[in-house]
Amino acid sequence: MKNIVVLVSGGGTNLQALIDAQNRGEIKNGKITCVISSNPNAYALTRAQNNKISTEVIRRKDFAEFDEYDNALTELLKSKNADVVVLAGFMTILGSKVISAFENKIINIHPSLIPSFCGEGYYGLHVHEAALKKGVKVTGATAHFVNEVCDDGPIIIQKAVEIQNGDTPEILQKRVMEQAEWKILPKAVSLFCEDKIIVKDNKTEILD
Ligand code: GRF
Repeated sequence: MKNIVVLVSGGGTNLQALIDAQNRGEIKNGKITCVISSNPNAYALTRAQNNKISTEVIRRKDFAEFDEYDNALTELLKSKNADVVVLAGFMTILGSKVISAFENKIINIHPSLIPSFCGEGYYGLHVHEAALKKGVKVTGATAHFVNEVCDDGPIIIQKAVEIQNGDTPEILQKRVMEQAEWKILPKAVSLFCEDKIIVKDNKTEILD
């Protein structure tokens, strides 16, 4: 059984999707053992507590230097025996230490079809604003491993979502979450826990 540690900063609807999938028995060979928040007031912490999952808070601003924060987060994850780390709306940049300590073991969910609308500055509603501004007809979400380059790590699963007439960034964000993010993130985590993801040349192969 692999230990799943989820990093959050906000509302935690993706965390909730993971918890719901776990309760339905859809996370094979893995268990959410800890939720770590960058924000002590994140509602995601309440969701964890409601489900008797242990919680921790680590704030970037409590460390003078970024390296100290990077070290502290790495040590915290190691102390929790994390086998896989899930970024579920975690709004603090990860450092090189944590990324190398958990190479191809950190899974992020991004609300577009990478490589569209990703990279620096593309977070939250900005992603959906950019998709609507460009006038794409299809967007979606991507679950991917995290490497040193923002939104560049090996892609695990993608799911498309259609743009509809009258969409606003808020409406589109909700549809992308409901139709894509909440489905593919638990699936990607389960595939990882089942050892069904092979990474080669910055790409993944998913075993049946
Ligand atoms: C989601 O849109 C996710 O794609 C992005 O951050 C948001 C988190 O929302 N990485 P929530 O906290 O899971 O509700």
